[in-house]
Amino acid sequence: MTRDAENPPILEVSGLDAFYGPAQAVFGVSFTVRPGEAVALVGRNGAGKSTTLKAIIGLIERQAAGLIFSGHDIRAMPTHAVARLGLGYVPEERRIFTDLTVAENLEVGRLPVRGGRDAWTPARLYEIFPNLAMMAGRSAGRMSGGEQQMLAIARTLMGNPDAVLLDEPSEGLSPLIVEQMAVAIQRMQQDGLAIVLSEQNVAFAAEIATRAVLLESGVVTFDGPMADLLQRDHDAG
Ligand SMILES: Nc1ncnc2c1ncn2[C@@H]1O[C@H](COP(=O)(O)OP(=O)(O)OP(=O)(O)O)[C@@H](O)[C@H]1O
Ligand SMILES: [Mg+2]
Repeated sequence: MTRDAENPPILEVSGLDAFYGPAQAVFGVSFTVRPGEAVALVGRNGAGKSTTLKAIIGLIERQAAGLIFSGHDIRAMPTHAVARLGLGYVPEERRIFTDLTVAENLEVGRLPVRGGRDAWTPARLYEIFPNLAMMAGRSAGRMSGGEQQMLAIARTLMGNPDAVLLDEPSEGLSPLIVEQMAVAIQRMQQDGLAIVLSEQNVAFAAEIATRAVLLESGVVTFDGPMADLLQRDHDAG
């Protein structure tokens, strides 16, 4: 048996169309993600990266030939039901409770484990996000953008997802924090999580993802090894 046959996709997106009212923003997008794999959705401003993620979890109107997560057809499922199946989502605008402390924010994210994996606990999360550990009692509104972004991801992990959609996790972060973020996401992946990363920052995406899906004007124009995409960009000058 091939390696792929032993590790079937946890998320299969095929022919995904997404709409804002009458305007279609994403056209026939297809890609798959396997457990423990990190796939980067890359592309310029307005290419459709965020739209693709929102459409997968049902935050905007979508149609698809197929949209399967963990063996379930999620095309008609509301967002909260998709989350309960184990698909986490961290939006571009960090959704955290600014009046609550770091530790309280983590508790809000807690969901039962679906089996197989060890449950995430604050202690385990503080290991991969060390700067959150140092401010567990601080109110989240009094943290930097990068720290809030880490908290948003950590809170999503408290839901014990099997896959996470991360929308521009490196956006607006200082170089030092970007590096810490890359390490944290690598550790999530090592834990067996499937990761879909939307990124304009290809250098950051390449640190994490082995596969890249390039979106241009809402259409996939490349799907393959990240190394091939980098080589192509390099050849094009
Ligand atoms: N709320 C909205 N209503 C209408 N159109 C929208 C909305 N959000 C995005 N769009 C349009 O959908 C297209 C895709 O936008 P999207 O936000 O998915 O791009 P993106 O690849 O995430 O870009 P960025 O790198 O800037 O985050 C764009 O043409 C954008 O103008
Ligand atoms: Mg976006």
